[in-house]
Amino acid sequence: MQVPDVTRTVAALRERVGTWRRAGDRIALVPTMGALHDGHLALVRRAREEAERVVVTIFVNPKQFGPAEDFGRYPRTEERDRALLAGLADLVFAPSGETMYPPGFGTTVSVAGPSAGLEGDVRPGHFDGMATVVAKLFIQAQADLAVFGEKDWQQLQIVRLMVRDLDLPLRVVPHPVVRDAHGLALSSRNLRLSEGELAVARSLNRVLADVRDALRHTAVEEALAAGRRALAEGGFGPLDYLALVEPETLRPLPALPAGRSARLLAAVRVGDVRLLDNVEVPAPSVRDQTGSAPVNRPAS
Ligand code: PAF
Repeated sequence: MQVPDVTRTVAALRERVGTWRRAGDRIALVPTMGALHDGHLALVRRAREEAERVVVTIFVNPKQFGPAEDFGRYPRTEERDRALLAGLADLVFAPSGETMYPPGFGTTVSVAGPSAGLEGDVRPGHFDGMATVVAKLFIQAQADLAVFGEKDWQQLQIVRLMVRDLDLPLRVVPHPVVRDAHGLALSSRNLRLSEGELAVARSLNRVLADVRDALRHTAVEEALAAGRRALAEGGFGPLDYLALVEPETLRPLPALPAGRSARLLAAVRVGDVRLLDNVEVPAPSVRDQTGSAPVNRPAS
């Protein structure tokens, strides 16, 4: 199977994309920071279903890491990544830091609304850095669509809003969270978990599922408090958040909205690894609403 070529300049990227476009092909983009795993490959396969040509970008974006974060330690495995993409992607775009941020680079894309709260509180500046690089990649590649994983739910909503607000001419295609056989959402950072930490990490999705189920008959604050206790008792480290939010705006929900689904998001540490996960909380059914607990009212 053919290992995809790598280009490092915007001109070379546009030349390849332009050739494909003139031949009538649709082009899908899968932005990544490399260290690819099965979760990324699922996004690439999804991109393949949507378009004739697939470009995977690999760029560890310094602007979305805080000063105390793991930018230096983030795994850089380009040759391995390209081998994994054999037969799946047509091209890898792996620009240098200078190509993305030439001296004097002065532009920041900041998306108000869904950037506020949750990751936005814990990682100040992260979403500005993310939105800036994603906007650049979109403009550089001129693809028809881009595939993003739902694991980074807040990121996905920010990208969607940015595309709408800036009239960027591409479609954002979401892809469900990819999990291991035990329900752990795949992430490059999972590689740093010890065996014991992995066992703890694998229970995160179960806690989220329990909270989601409890929300059918328990008031929101009560269900979240039970989830926080379960995480502490389950061996997790500090919890950054466990929150029920409106899926698109990420605004906190004090109660389940009638007739609409919500999203339950968590960020919690195991050892020095930060895990993110989220699940859909379906709209309460009529039966839930007529049950013993007031699902549509906040805890008093
Ligand atoms: O999700 C990621 O890996 C990154 O945030 C992204 C979208 C590639 C931008 O650097």
